[in-house]
Amino acid sequence: MKIVTKSEQETENFAKEIGTRLKGNEIIALYGDLGVGKTAFTRGIASYFGIKNVVTSPTFTLVNEYSASEFKIYHFDMYRIKNLEDLESTGFFDYMYKGVFIIEWSENIENYLPEGTIKVYIKKNENKSERTIILKGWNNE
Ligand SMILES: Nc1ncnc2c1ncn2[C@@H]1O[C@H](COP(=O)(O)OP(=O)(O)O)[C@@H](O)[C@H]1O
Ligand SMILES: [Mg+2]
Repeated sequence: MKIVTKSEQETENFAKEIGTRLKGNEIIALYGDLGVGKTAFTRGIASYFGIKNVVTSPTFTLVNEYSASEFKIYHFDMYRIKNLEDLESTGFFDYMYKGVFIIEWSENIENYLPEGTIKVYIKKNENKSERTIILKGWNNE
């Protein structure tokens, strides 16, 4: 599916809708350059679960853990991940399917994403407050 959002709030609202349909073991891989709205999208999902402390970027910790009602949300930032050893050090393989994963800079770990990963591609439009968001692997699309 593909949608265009016209503000950060619209991106958050769209992500919140996605949040309403999560079961607790999904892997959501976000793609797109700095400033496209990956963290805004993460904040939107988290807000559905009443989580308000989503950080701008977990760059120094690589992963932040938030408690939703029935499961955990693991928010990864793969910006500095260069190889399998780096990835293992984040706990990626240990936490997999034990909660919802939301991954920024998925480009860096493309080869390690399992089948069934929901992929979210975000791009800036010419109008600087618009974003095109394309979802793959969501609703069997
Ligand atoms: N339609 C939109 N959706 C999301 N963010 C938008 C949109 N239009 C403008 N922005 C701005 O883009 C920036 C996105 O920041 P952020 O979510 O931190 O990006 P990223 O995590 O991809 O680096 C914010 O400053 C936000 O206000
Ligand atoms: Mg970010």
